[in-house]
Amino acid sequence: MGRAFVYVILGGGVAAGYAALEFVKKGVSHGELCIISEEAVVPYERPALSKGFLLPEDPARLPSFHTCVGSNEERLTPKWYKENGIELVIGTRVKSADVRRKTLLTATGETISYQILIIATGARALKLEEFGVTGSDAENVCYLRDLADATRLVNVMQCCSGGDAVVIGGGYIGMECAASLVINKINVTMVFPEAHCMARLFTSKIASYYEDFYKSKGVKFIKGTVLSSFDFNPVGKVTAVNLRDGSRLPADMVVVGIGIRPNTSLFEGQLTLEKGGIKVNGRLQSSNSSVYAVGDVATFPVKLFGETRRLEHVDSARKSAKHVVAAIMEPDKIGEFDYLPFFYSRVFTLSWQFYGDGVGEVVHFGDFSGNTFGAYWVSKGHLIGSFLEGGTKEEYEAIAKATRMMPAIEDLAELERQGLGFALTA
Ligand code: FDA
Ligand code: NAD
Repeated sequence: MGRAFVYVILGGGVAAGYAALEFVKKGVSHGELCIISEEAVVPYERPALSKGFLLPEDPARLPSFHTCVGSNEERLTPKWYKENGIELVIGTRVKSADVRRKTLLTATGETISYQILIIATGARALKLEEFGVTGSDAENVCYLRDLADATRLVNVMQCCSGGDAVVIGGGYIGMECAASLVINKINVTMVFPEAHCMARLFTSKIASYYEDFYKSKGVKFIKGTVLSSFDFNPVGKVTAVNLRDGSRLPADMVVVGIGIRPNTSLFEGQLTLEKGGIKVNGRLQSSNSSVYAVGDVATFPVKLFGETRRLEHVDSARKSAKHVVAAIMEPDKIGEFDYLPFFYSRVFTLSWQFYGDGVGEVVHFGDFSGNTFGAYWVSKGHLIGSFLEGGTKEEYEAIAKATRMMPAIEDLAELERQGLGFALTA
């Protein structure tokens, strides 16, 4: 059995939702577009899962955070897809792909063929087993990638009120989940191998601000080590976490956020891969001209920096999705994807944004004992990255604009003296 579509989006996450809206805006005909997703719900704003979804009071629940509410656009419910003639094949995993024949085979045994395929398969959470530790299947060990994981995390948290959680990993998931656990009245110890949290992006000065804030909320940090094993009770629940430095942390629950791997396996050997993702050009087109890739799974040229990158953030998923639809449906009207990397997070009462690239020399500015501070990164004499905590909408827009312009910086001391004022007047 099989069906045929003009356009197929493989994956039903953030990028799929934003692409669907763009297809409709550009006048896709009923019956031309199909979305296939392993998840049983239509696309939603994944960032909600580590924030509003985990709140003890008035938590965010579907349908409130379906795409595309995250960028103040229409909220696409199942009814919207139906009204716009988009075929949804959800709760269905694609188990193999044949880009030469232009077909996908689903786990239910259906062959779906396409004229144009958009790969939006995102990524999967890395498992502890991949680092040689067993125990991921224990009922009180949680990962967080999709709605099922988030629902499970909420249930485990509810059983642990007043108890102890160990958070493994000091990246985005670790930091956002630790804050949510504290808000749910759970005692948190964070464990990670680096010298400070958010090591991929934060300087040690920025990191100490957040670590001090977390400590003021009762969070403990154990840095420079990793877990080596779990202790289990007779029914297989984790009771303690053993670290490589020899210490042992009693635990009622564990949250693991140790990074992701893009879901490229269906296409290995069929498409060119680079930096762990599917390599695409400025039109988001892969090495096969009928196949495009967007979001976390795509390695695309970042024109500003003259190199390819794979980004794992929602803004790039949204914008690459929008761009790919224009590149497919209005190829003569659209240029190359020209993206300024943008990352953000919100924890407790804090909120930061980062634009550009975090390499080169760093200049910090603002009041690190107050609410608003930031940093600029300068490389080869040009401003290439900006970070701001506690900014207003206008201030965030200003650092984004200044970073995109990549102005020449002759005097770092002067940049430090001007601080946020530099971006506001750039
Ligand atoms: P996404 O992961 O959203 O979707 C992939 C989809 O493909 C899933 O539905 C999956 O089931 C499906 N799929 C995969 N393989 C399949 C197969 N073989 N068959 C069928 N379906 C398949 N970013 C940010 O900038 N700010 C933030 O605050 C956050 N917060 C945040 C919280 C949490 C908990 C997570 C997990 C992630 C974030 N992110 C984030 C990252 C952001 O959510 C991420 O970059 C985007 O979701 C990427 O969108 P994609 O559509 O590429 O993948
Ligand atoms: P991450 O890459 O942000 O952080 C991974 C962390 O794992 C590292 O900081 C390190 O501390 C830790 N680590 C690595 N190996 C380890 C080991 N052996 N033992 C213990 N710790 C180890 O990844 P993540 O936090 O898992 O986030 C997953 C994905 O979700 C990322 O793509 C991220 O961008 C996305 N996300 C983004 C946001 C946001 O942008 N605000 C929020 C949540 C999730």
